[in-house]
Amino acid sequence: MIQVVVTESYDASCAYVADMICKLVNEKPACKLGLATGGTPVPMYKKLIEANKAGKVDFSAVHTVNLDEYCGIPGTHDQSYRYFMDTNLFDHINIDKANTYVAQGMGDAEANAAELEAKVYEGGVADLQLLGIGNNGHIAFNEASDTLHATAHIEKLTESTINANARFFERKEDVPTTAITMGMGDILAAKCVVLIATGLAKTDAIRGLVMSDEITTHNPSTMLKMHPNAVVVIDKELADAVGYKG
Ligand code: GLP
Repeated sequence: MIQVVVTESYDASCAYVADMICKLVNEKPACKLGLATGGTPVPMYKKLIEANKAGKVDFSAVHTVNLDEYCGIPGTHDQSYRYFMDTNLFDHINIDKANTYVAQGMGDAEANAAELEAKVYEGGVADLQLLGIGNNGHIAFNEASDTLHATAHIEKLTESTINANARFFERKEDVPTTAITMGMGDILAAKCVVLIATGLAKTDAIRGLVMSDEITTHNPSTMLKMHPNAVVVIDKELADAVGYKG
């Protein structure tokens, strides 16, 4: 079931989610967090850094697993999700990097997917899985399609996703065309899932998620409706655009 939280602004959405994460870590210092990349969570990560520096939250016993990684670029590449996590969060908080996992983008892709699958369940499932959403409703790199996958796998990226992510690369041709990703079953296995969305490019995807009880593989986010504890945090601008009234 989806609980929709509408905030005044994107900044307020980020504050809301940062607060949820800080509360969880304070209640359960050795919790496991499922983390996400993309532009949307960056200000939320800044708030976690501020809270950590202010002594309001301690990440020293926390374990993390990330949703996905591009194939074909190493963790040292400035567009890899390992690099993203290090520079946007891990390098600035008191987490033990040995307790953070981002899938390998290089090497044997199938073996890397099997390793990611194992990490999803190692020591228990995530207490909280953070999510963003693609313009086409994709979650992690589970692309809108006739079929979805339950477990970690290699996904061919759609034109829509490549176009959307091209803004982070020098040239569109530099965007990897495949990625390793948790499957939908891995995401739904988390005890709680929290999705943040902002911006009118997400209108159609969020409408499908919050305005009906329909589930379709063509908007993978709609599968979250089957989760018993899913929270979708959107700002008023996006809520108005989708026609969500609460
Ligand atoms: C990428 C990531 C997703 C993310 C999506 C949206 O494709 N694999 O996890 O949700 O981008 O990103 P943004 O927040 O930049 O719109």
